Amino acid sequence: MNQNSSSAADDRLIIFDTTLRDGEQSPGASMTKDEKVRIAKALERLKVDVIEAGFAIASPGDFEAVKAVAAAVKDSTVCSLARTSPQDIERAAEALQPARRKRIHTFIATSPIHMRDKLRMQPDDVVAAAVGAVKLARQFTDDVEFSPEDAGRSEPDFLHRIIEAVIDAGATTINVPDTVGYTLPHMFGELIRNMRHAIPNADKAIFSVHCHNDLGLAVANSLAAVLNGARQVECTINGLGERAGNASLEEVAMAIRTRRDQFSCDHGLDTQHIMSCSRLVSGVTGFPVQPNKAIVGANAFAHESGIHQDGVIKSRETYEIMRAEDVGWSEQHIVLGKHSGRNAFKTRCEELGISFASQGELDEAFKRFKILADKKHEIFDEDLHALVSDVAQAEDRIVFQSLQYQASSDKPPQVDLQLSIDGQCQQVQATGDGSVDAVFRAIEQLVASGAEMRLFSVNAITQGTDAQGEVTVRLARNGRIVNGQGADTDVIVASAKAYVHALNGLQHMEQRMHPQAGEAI
Ligand code: KIV
Ligand code: ZN
Repeated sequence: MNQNSSSAADDRLIIFDTTLRDGEQSPGASMTKDEKVRIAKALERLKVDVIEAGFAIASPGDFEAVKAVAAAVKDSTVCSLARTSPQDIERAAEALQPARRKRIHTFIATSPIHMRDKLRMQPDDVVAAAVGAVKLARQFTDDVEFSPEDAGRSEPDFLHRIIEAVIDAGATTINVPDTVGYTLPHMFGELIRNMRHAIPNADKAIFSVHCHNDLGLAVANSLAAVLNGARQVECTINGLGERAGNASLEEVAMAIRTRRDQFSCDHGLDTQHIMSCSRLVSGVTGFPVQPNKAIVGANAFAHESGIHQDGVIKSRETYEIMRAEDVGWSEQHIVLGKHSGRNAFKTRCEELGISFASQGELDEAFKRFKILADKKHEIFDEDLHALVSDVAQAEDRIVFQSLQYQASSDKPPQVDLQLSIDGQCQQVQATGDGSVDAVFRAIEQLVASGAEMRLFSVNAITQGTDAQGEVTVRLARNGRIVNGQGADTDVIVASAKAYVHALNGLQHMEQRMHPQAGEAI
């Protein structure tokens, strides 16, 4: 790619992370408030400029999560998504109140198909709604972003018109989404270049892009836009997001760092924290990272073939264009062990964004840490995250209590399971086609959820044969999908916890609003 037309005065590229909003829109990837806060703290350590924490009006839970992230984050700007209605903007502003730096991101669809079939609005009314929303948002903050949804399929003349109007109304960032991942890099680059040249007040706003990966082009399209003057990229950790996902933060960040010769701008990320963010997001959402995924996949820096290994040993540059340590591959270190005290435990947890609401909660977590440290001598950050993710929430109806099982290669397994359901302890025995099946049958005998299992996967959280196994169970019921996670040094116990977690998730899932599904209100 050539540096064709970037004349942007600013050589700083803003990294806007939307893992907690667009990433969470992936079916099954919903996160609790505490999980969002932990991820936000990890993104802040990575030095992400803007963290989109959620869609505040979606549900009371989403509102509380945006508010908690706004209160926890000190360095990054915290953003909430809002449609153009006054209720949306006001709810976003309210949730962002505790933030040191806040941004309201308002959007409305601009493509003919979305305006006609989804919004059922005339183009003039769409412009008026966008201008009204931006003006209202400016009453709460100077930092207002506007997105013409489905810009990739919108008519350029209409895009120019609405963008000029919202900049006049006070929008400071114009984000151009390729909502359905339809554009090709040369087209998307040209779209951005033309906007910057044709819109009279373009110099008053920062141009941003938000690309989806339906054709596997989200990163390429984002980079083409940067080469044409975009100075903000919206992206997610591990490329999480609706359908095929969003542009992956780690790929955008490392492409720009590795090919600085091609870009007239750079971002301010501390890339050594990429791996820990990737592991955290994967652990919390239960979306594993494919081994051959660029930058963060297990094989990304592994040299399998003899010829490659020989080359790398003689001179690493023969086959390596980046250093594994620059993205944090060597960062996984032992942080605590059997002899670590309460203070060391609490301090490390705080560094990871894990907080305890009361002394009792800390005592309980420390007790579980000690039990884990007895089974597993080296405790990594990933183990601490799993330890706190495993705690039952106050509103959980079903709580895992204990499991005994017998397995042998010649006889069917026997499990004896205890759960607490609505505060009542219940016990059941079951058998099945393997221990995991027997455990799931036992749970269903007690709960009769009627949920359909869509996925079961097991990953080791850290290295070593004593590593905790992290199990993900995906359940579907009435069109809702949730992932449940459970971790334990015994994968059968982890499976039981994951199934229970998913069942609770199904129950918690209120009718959350999807920002892009409804009509404009
Ligand atoms: O993909 C999209 O268009 C979005 C907008 C809300 C920015 O996520
Ligand atoms: Zn999106």
